[in-house]
Amino acid sequence: MVKPVKKAIFPVAGMGTRFLPATKAMPKEMLPVVDKPLIQYAVEEARDAGIDEIIFVTGRGKAVLLDHFDHSFELEQILRERGKDDALNGLLEVMPRPGQISSTRQQQPLGLGHAVWCARHFINDEPFAVLLADDLIMAEPGCLAQMMEVYGRTGGNVVAAEDVPREFTNRYGILDIIEDDGTLARAQGLVEKPDPKDAPSTLSIIGRYILQPEVFGHLDKQDRGAGGEVQLTDAMARTIGDIPFHGLRFKGRRFDCGSKLGFVEATIAFALERDDLGDDVRHMLKNYV
Ligand code: G1P
Repeated sequence: MVKPVKKAIFPVAGMGTRFLPATKAMPKEMLPVVDKPLIQYAVEEARDAGIDEIIFVTGRGKAVLLDHFDHSFELEQILRERGKDDALNGLLEVMPRPGQISSTRQQQPLGLGHAVWCARHFINDEPFAVLLADDLIMAEPGCLAQMMEVYGRTGGNVVAAEDVPREFTNRYGILDIIEDDGTLARAQGLVEKPDPKDAPSTLSIIGRYILQPEVFGHLDKQDRGAGGEVQLTDAMARTIGDIPFHGLRFKGRRFDCGSKLGFVEATIAFALERDDLGDDVRHMLKNYV
């Protein structure tokens, strides 16, 4: 029996420089796809996968992310008075229970590994998930829920994975595969953002992780890797041998909402899926293409 995963870390301290000026005074995780901020998609996916404790690793100017998951009494009162029950219920549905959400700060932008390490005291000796909100995943069941199912069988560390064109390996953590059944791949190593010519495969890590607490032992060393940053990929790689490492080619579509094109595509794809908008959006798009 593997230990259940009840805690999830959301690293949300990034500066969002690729989305300036939109992100000058607003966190990139608050950018809405249709009408819901990226962070809310990720939090909902985590909850649907059985996550109970939400930990945000924030930075300067990110307070609004925590406000988003708190009551807005004035707004709720007005919606109630005006009989806008759907809007009100939509807000109340995402409200965490008291104490279910915590936050800590990453005071310096030293990399994803450092961000995750900043949350170590919330995790202690338990397995945990990490979700990167700018990887938006449209899937049913959700990507993390699919990973939990696999984790129940494999244990160890499990990441979401996707095959990418070889010219893009330098944007991702890449698996060095030793066993692969086409859905689940076991890795014997990992490389962060390798040049296409050096990449051991084209199977890339997407921003969903189930990790064992042993990874903190490696993050403690704060070794710098690709880009001079403390890389989560390097710390995970060092656990291989002690802990099995699998990449799951999840069923669903992933949108890289850290890029403008990915963000536009996500907006269109999610709008097309909506009962209240899909037909109108499909009709409207015909005027443009
Ligand atoms: C991070 C990780 C990388 C992973 C990617 C997924 O990179 O370091 O291993 O493949 O997320 O989105 P970043 O996108 O923060 O540069």
